[in-house]
Amino acid sequence: MDHHALRTKIEGLVRSARDRGAPCDWFESLYRDADGRTDLIPWADDEPNRHFLAGMALPGMPTGGRALVPGCGFGDDAEALALLGFEVTAFDVSGSAIDECRRRHRNSPVRYEVGDLFRLPDRYRVPGFDLVLEVHTLQAIPLPDRDSGFGPVADCVAPGGTLLAVMRGRDDAADVDAEGPPWPISRAECVAFEGRGLTLDSWEDFLDDATPPNRRFRAVFRRPPGRLHTGRSGIRTRARTGR
Ligand SMILES: C[S@@+](CC[C@H](N)C(=O)[O-])C[C@H]1O[C@@H](n2cnc3c(N)ncnc32)[C@H](O)[C@@H]1O
Repeated sequence: MDHHALRTKIEGLVRSARDRGAPCDWFESLYRDADGRTDLIPWADDEPNRHFLAGMALPGMPTGGRALVPGCGFGDDAEALALLGFEVTAFDVSGSAIDECRRRHRNSPVRYEVGDLFRLPDRYRVPGFDLVLEVHTLQAIPLPDRDSGFGPVADCVAPGGTLLAVMRGRDDAADVDAEGPPWPISRAECVAFEGRGLTLDSWEDFLDDATPPNRRFRAVFRRPPGRLHTGRSGIRTRARTGR
């Protein structure tokens, strides 16, 4: 299938999913039809995202511990984290994507799970993860649906833990491109992470080397030690257990 036909197919899937009021439902159709073929999944490239890899070299990034990868796709970033020494859990709303992760990475230590960002199990939040890696998942969900997706990502960061987010970027005032996916994210939207108890550590706003270039944000947020977000009923305080 050529690029134009794949784009047309995705736009149709997105439209009908949104009409059904289930904006994340189309991913399963796409992955199921692709049957593991990377060329039928526009964002799959059989390698870890290089903006994530460069982000791991930023000062103060964790070098091990428990890591969570929401919307893991075919698992390339999750596998890279495992190679870096993290104990990784990775989830995706698409069962077919997770089946493919298990097939591709047969002897992997990564725990692959089917899961919906909007219905996360409490065991992701407590005790939380030392690193949460969000790459291109929120931008794949249109506004206003993704508004409530920032909170669950933040809630999975343990006290003392880190969120590394890599995303397409747009100005706060810019219209969201109706032609997505992706639907670029604004700095103002990311305030939602801070509303869930994270503090901004670094924010990079740059153009990548694609033709034409894409504006990207790479952000690092931290949860102060000793603060635990309960996810539903606000923030409570606890002592860090030294996992
Ligand atoms: C644009 S892709 C990015 C995949 C991967 N992170 C990457 O960078 O290659 C977005 C991914 O998020 C997943 N996804 C979308 N909505 C989701 C949700 N509500 N919960 C979990 N995963 C979701 C999709 O199935 C898809 O694999």
